[in-house]
Amino acid sequence: MKRIVYVCFSFCSVFFIHAQTYNRLPIPQALKGPECTLHIIDTFAQLRSGNQTITGGINGHQFWGPTIFVNKGDTVRMTVINNLNDSTTLHWHGLHLPAVMDGGPHQVIPPGTIWKPFWKITNNASTYWYHPHLHEMTLEHLSKGIGGLLIVNDEQESALPLPRTYGIDDIPLVFTSRRYATNNQFIVQNTAYGDYLLTNGVHNAEFTVPRQVVRLRILNAEIERSYSIGFSDNRTFYVIGTDGGLREQPLPVNRLHIAVGERYEILLDCSKDEIGKSLDLLAYNANQPFGFPGGEPAQDGQFGSLLNNKNFQMMHFTIGESTGTPIMTIPETLIPFQGIDVNTATGNQDIRVMGGAPNSPMPFHFNGGIFNITRVDKTIPMNSVQKWTITNSNVFGHTFHIHDVQFNLIARNGNASAVGQHELGWKDVLYLPRNESATFIARFDDYADPLHPFMYHCHFSNHEDDGMMQQFVVVPPSDVNDEEIDYTSIQLYPNPASESIIIDSKNIDLYYVSIHNVNGKTVMMLPQPERGVPIHIGSLAKGIYTVKMIDSKSKQTIIRTFVK
Ligand code: C2O
Ligand code: CU
Ligand code: CU
Repeated sequence: MKRIVYVCFSFCSVFFIHAQTYNRLPIPQALKGPECTLHIIDTFAQLRSGNQTITGGINGHQFWGPTIFVNKGDTVRMTVINNLNDSTTLHWHGLHLPAVMDGGPHQVIPPGTIWKPFWKITNNASTYWYHPHLHEMTLEHLSKGIGGLLIVNDEQESALPLPRTYGIDDIPLVFTSRRYATNNQFIVQNTAYGDYLLTNGVHNAEFTVPRQVVRLRILNAEIERSYSIGFSDNRTFYVIGTDGGLREQPLPVNRLHIAVGERYEILLDCSKDEIGKSLDLLAYNANQPFGFPGGEPAQDGQFGSLLNNKNFQMMHFTIGESTGTPIMTIPETLIPFQGIDVNTATGNQDIRVMGGAPNSPMPFHFNGGIFNITRVDKTIPMNSVQKWTITNSNVFGHTFHIHDVQFNLIARNGNASAVGQHELGWKDVLYLPRNESATFIARFDDYADPLHPFMYHCHFSNHEDDGMMQQFVVVPPSDVNDEEIDYTSIQLYPNPASESIIIDSKNIDLYYVSIHNVNGKTVMMLPQPERGVPIHIGSLAKGIYTVKMIDSKSKQTIIRTFVK
């Protein structure tokens, strides 16, 4: 009896070690702009055998959300409906837009409320992402799986011979990892690293790529872990794009470091592979330098993980038939890069990483203090070029992300030649190794708003939630205008209203409009609504509503009511 059990056990374990079962990579639904509705819900996903896991999703996805497609030059109009049980926010990471539309910690969307930001896309063709950003809740909301990619297209990119059939030869890959409790729920608190990798929301993802050149849009959506990616046969692949745009030329590499929040587009040449052959994308994370996020030796505990200090599989690819009009070669040139002239910088911003040491009572933060939503840390003149230096004299690596702008990394440790070749171009996140500094320049154009700040922070969501975040405002060159304003003529019509209501604000620009029901609950939030454009209220229940309008100039609040 004993013997039979033993034989069976060893047979089973051998079987499990060798038979890897894969899940087909989900391709998130494509949502075409410029008008998009995002419906955020609490949901469940069957991520592993046994219980379902409580997750968050958007527009019917059970983890993660649709991929939004917009064109440069479009004015996008988002309708974000928060149907979570919790307040949240939705931030447009990497995009240049007014602070009040940015979806940072100041733009809280209460449960059941509709938020309607809109802005003109001025970003270059690239891969961006949207994700929650509620202070102290970012880790939790991101961990649930809320977020999605936003792909910008433009004429320059469209003219290039690049793969761009979404989900066929142009494939989004969003990587993150989770740790599970025995009931299959995510363990979020005190967990810097998950134990199991999720790719677009599934474990052990596999995908059949056509026998041609394939474009992979990679986002590291981890909590802290970096990936040093490469392929199982060590083949060369080509970096074509950074966070905020395409490069001048493809950069051939066989390893690429992708830190949290970074996006890279790469080309993978499968044109010479045999059909049926398999090829794995790996994280070559074993034996990284000390301080590499995910290089820790521990397998469990707060900084431990089953994936730490290990090479592990990220994707299993199989080569399939080529498509009708395949791209068969790697282009020689992409988009001429016109970076920011360093000599135009008029200000220096120095940021130092503080705290977090084993004997420090303070969590990681920046000089000037841990995040305080009422304290503005920096005031930047509009249209200025600023040089930012972030110094990390800490024992651990971090990331640094700034809202509003795309920057050019110009030095590491004061040395221009120490900037990685792969980092040249437009970026909004950088990796900051231990005991190093990084310097970038950025232009702060277009949107001044002394009231509403933008964020900069470590993109490790646990560090960000603990206060490794600060905020800046962009101020107009001059702001003097003291004429008396007459608000009495502002009116709403029709009143009573049924499907839509128009605010006639005369010549007054409104900074913010919010609509509240009789219980005082905010039902709709409209940052900087365009003059005279009808507001759709068809989804609101019958009743009396209060409309609070803030004047852009004076910041005074004007109140009107309407009946539906
Ligand atoms: Cu990706 Cu401030 O965020
Ligand atoms: Cu951001
Ligand atoms: Cu950090």
